[in-house]
Amino acid sequence: MPEVLVIGIGPGHPDQITVQAVEALNRADVLFLVDKGAEKRELIAMREEICRRHIRDPQGYRTVEIADPPRDRNPADAAAYHGVVADWHQARAERFEAAFAEHLAPGEVGALLVWGDPALYDSTLRVFDRIALPLDVTVIPGVTSINALTAGHRIPLNRIGEPIHITTGRRIAGGLPDGLDSAVVMLDAGFTAAQLSDPDLYVYWGAYVSTSDEVLIAGPLAEVAGHIAATKEKLRAEHGWIMDTYLLVRRTS
Ligand SMILES: C[S@@+](CC[C@H](N)C(=O)[O-])C[C@H]1O[C@@H](n2cnc3c(N)ncnc32)[C@H](O)[C@@H]1O
Repeated sequence: MPEVLVIGIGPGHPDQITVQAVEALNRADVLFLVDKGAEKRELIAMREEICRRHIRDPQGYRTVEIADPPRDRNPADAAAYHGVVADWHQARAERFEAAFAEHLAPGEVGALLVWGDPALYDSTLRVFDRIALPLDVTVIPGVTSINALTAGHRIPLNRIGEPIHITTGRRIAGGLPDGLDSAVVMLDAGFTAAQLSDPDLYVYWGAYVSTSDEVLIAGPLAEVAGHIAATKEKLRAEHGWIMDTYLLVRRTS
């Protein structure tokens, strides 16, 4: 049965990768790279730096690109969105399966490099569930962008004994869910929290966290929201892309 390693490679810094992930990278004969077309040069460069830094034998592996199937980015409603995502996962599974069947010789080990941790807002493991080809899959956890955000701000993620909510920009528009005072927001195209009027919210925001381009801003949301939104636009224009994450905390005295 072909062996495939799904390796979390952390949020960008080449040192924020576990020893287990480094050993897994060194076991791989074939690195399967998902070509997202629009993937930014800097992201590819960071992934290449991780391989250069950690793979001991540069001749000991080969790379195979898997083109990402096209996806409708503007479905009409939530039901259409779920349909679009399911179709996209299925199309991805068929491409992964074909690539593994074609490029992994008997006894060889394949690897997929996943940004951050494969369990957090990443479709790779769901796609694997749809692959019919019997595979021996091992998942190597990675440092998440949330870990890098809280480390950058030198803060704990949760308040003592309290839960933490992790959500997307689209779903924070209505505010924190009832009964919750802390939320991490990911995948936010704009800075949706700027719409929230709760005067007790404090924000810890970070872009390109863990990388040499990291930018961190923290403060009462009402005071810093405009600054974060403007900084985000400026950084996006400078880099051509942006990845940012933030923690919202309701300050109760
Ligand atoms: C598709 S999710 C992938 C999350 C990833 N699996 C993880 O463990 O962090 C992409 C989102 O992760 C966050 N993200 C990933 N890397 C980041 C970074 N270096 N700095 C800030 N946010 C990051 C952003 O919210 C981005 O929109």
